[in-house]
Amino acid sequence: MSNPLDVLQEKIIQSQSIVVLTGAGVSQESGIRTFRGEDGLWNDYRPEELANYESFVKDPATVWEWYEWRKKIIIDSKPNDCHYGLSTIESKKKLSIVSQNVDGLHDEAGSKNLIELHGNIWETLCVQCKDIRKNKSLHETIPPYCSLCNGLLRPNVVWFDEIIPMSTIESISEKINDCDLFLILGTSGLVQPASWFGMHAKQKDKYVIEVNIDITPNNQFYDLHIQSKVGEVFSRLNYDF
Ligand code: OAD
Repeated sequence: MSNPLDVLQEKIIQSQSIVVLTGAGVSQESGIRTFRGEDGLWNDYRPEELANYESFVKDPATVWEWYEWRKKIIIDSKPNDCHYGLSTIESKKKLSIVSQNVDGLHDEAGSKNLIELHGNIWETLCVQCKDIRKNKSLHETIPPYCSLCNGLLRPNVVWFDEIIPMSTIESISEKINDCDLFLILGTSGLVQPASWFGMHAKQKDKYVIEVNIDITPNNQFYDLHIQSKVGEVFSRLNYDF
């Protein structure tokens, strides 16, 4: 049987078009906690109290406090070998990333063809005038207000009671229809719609490789599962192709 890393390497070289789905596991080696699992954020915090619009409207300061706490951790984190590996591959062939991560590390590593499915923690969205700004810094006072209209600002992230636009889902489906390799990296596969993309890729007969330190629910449907840390896997690939 071939070594799984050799298969991944070969598939990357052979593919004309690659789509990559990433989750919190991709930033774990950059020092950012995942949501689920032993050290997961959702063990200490309740998503329904912090990650939904209803709670934000009731108590914007508490929701902002939580985001500022996460930003403080993320602000000093650097992309790891997985983020850099993906941007290097993108510089050589067609590759798109669909990331559930809000930390902005794919962008920092130089990835251009990037859909941040759950938004970006460094962006604010004015609830009144809808102005979006990006600023990699912490707020001096919370909740912050819009410099244009004085409306309340919120983090430009997707919350549990919010829906990702259908046009975004359709555009991702089209990318998957057009690819020959679909990589699923460091995601538990428990949150829709991202968890649906792997099955969609299989229905379209794409080669699907998952890299995760754990076994995931849809694991048995994929062509290859590499049970390792993503940063370690990407550090061992050869990028001279
Ligand atoms: P999870 O925390 O649910 O899952 C992280 C996955 O990464 C798990 O399957 C781990 O086994 C795996 N993992 C951890 N470290 C790894 C490493 N170094 N290498 C490889 N795999 C590793 O995170 P997501 O799947 O991204 O949504 O969660 C999806 C969404 O749920 C998040 O975007 C967030 C959360 O609630 C919102 O906030 C809307």
